[in-house]
Amino acid sequence: MATESKPVVLSGIQPSGRLTLGNYLGALKNWVKLNEQFTCYYMLVDMHAITVRQDPAVLRDRCYEFLALYIACGLDPASNVLFVQSHVPAHARLAWVLNCYTQMGELSRMTQFKDKSQKNTDNINAGLFSYPVLMAADILLYQAGAVPVGEDQKQHLELTRDVAMRFNNLYGSPERPVFTVPEPMIPPVGARIMSLQEPTKKMSKSDAAETNAVYLLDDPDVITRKIKRAVTDMDNSVRYAPTEKPGVSNLMSILAATTGQSFDSIVTQYDGQGYGKFKAACAEAVVECLRPVQARYHEVRDDLDGLRRILRDGAEQASLRADATLKHVHEVLGFIPE
Ligand code: TYM
Repeated sequence: MATESKPVVLSGIQPSGRLTLGNYLGALKNWVKLNEQFTCYYMLVDMHAITVRQDPAVLRDRCYEFLALYIACGLDPASNVLFVQSHVPAHARLAWVLNCYTQMGELSRMTQFKDKSQKNTDNINAGLFSYPVLMAADILLYQAGAVPVGEDQKQHLELTRDVAMRFNNLYGSPERPVFTVPEPMIPPVGARIMSLQEPTKKMSKSDAAETNAVYLLDDPDVITRKIKRAVTDMDNSVRYAPTEKPGVSNLMSILAATTGQSFDSIVTQYDGQGYGKFKAACAEAVVECLRPVQARYHEVRDDLDGLRRILRDGAEQASLRADATLKHVHEVLGFIPE
C-alpha cells in the first residue's frame, strides 16, 4: 500500500443502476492515474444508495459488479484502498455530528435533492435530504485534499467545504484544523457526459431508457448502434457549441475524452463531411477504450473470494484513517473518550 505521507484523494460511486460511460469519463478513468501522487481511497457508497429503494439481492450483487469494474478499469487494490462505505462505521457516526452543523436551508438548495425528490414523490425520506451531509462525512473523515468527481458533484463539494470551515472555525485552530478543506478535482473534458437521446440531460446510470446511455459492459455492436443513433441536429457541422448543438458537442466531448484529441483537431478532421464519419469514429473510440475493461471484468468478477478479501482489507485500512479523525472530532466536541 502507498505510504500515508502522500496527500489523500477520496471518491465514491453509488451502486445503483449500471455504470455508464459518464461515470467512466467523469470519474473512474481519472482515478486510475492518481495513485503515484496521492494515497487513494475509493468507495462504493451503499449507504447513499438506500436513499432510493433497492432490491437487497440486486444491491449486493451490484456492489460486487461495481468493485470488479473498479478493478477492471485499472484500480489496483494493491495501490488503492477499495472499500464499501457501510463497512466503516465512522461514516455514519461523523454524519450524525455534521448533521448538527448543517442548516436545513443549505440542504434544501441542493439540486440533486430537488431532482430526486421530484422523481420519487412517494419516498422523500430524511436520508435523501441529508445525503450531502453523509457525503461530507465520507470526505472529511479521510482528510482528503482533493475529490475527483464529475461536474454534477460540485455543489455537494461546496457544501462539504462550508461545513468543514464552519467546524474548523468553531473547534480548530489555524495550526491544527479539525478537517482538511477539500478541493473538487474535475476533468477538463468528460466532466458532464450527456444522454445520447436527450443531450440536454445528464447521462445517468439509473435512466430507464436503455438507448440514453452507453454502459461499461455493453457489447461493442450495441455501443456502436447507440452512438450512431445518438441525437444530433440538421446543420451537419461538427463544432463545439453545447447550447446550440448539444448532441454534437456531447459526442465531441466523448471523442476528446476517449482519445485525448483536442476539439480543434476533431473539427479539422470531421467538419463539413456529414455526421456519419464523425459518429463512426466516436463509436470506435468508445469501443476501443472499453475493450480492455470488458476483457478484464469477467475474470475479476468470477473470483468472489478475492473480491471479499479486497473489501475486508480495504475496510481495515480505511477504518484506521477514518477512526483517527472521528476520535479527534469526539474529543473537540467534549465527548468522554471511549
Ligand atoms: P454518482 O454515483 O452519481 O456518480 C459517480 C461519479 O460519476 C460522475 N458522473 C458523471 N461524470 C460525467 N458525466 C456524467 N454524465 C456523470 N454521471 C456521473 C459523478 O460526478 C461522480 O463523480 N454523491 C456521489 C457519490 C459520493 C461521493 C462521496 C463522491 C458519495 N460520497 C464522496 C465523492 C466523494 C454520487 O452520487 O455519485
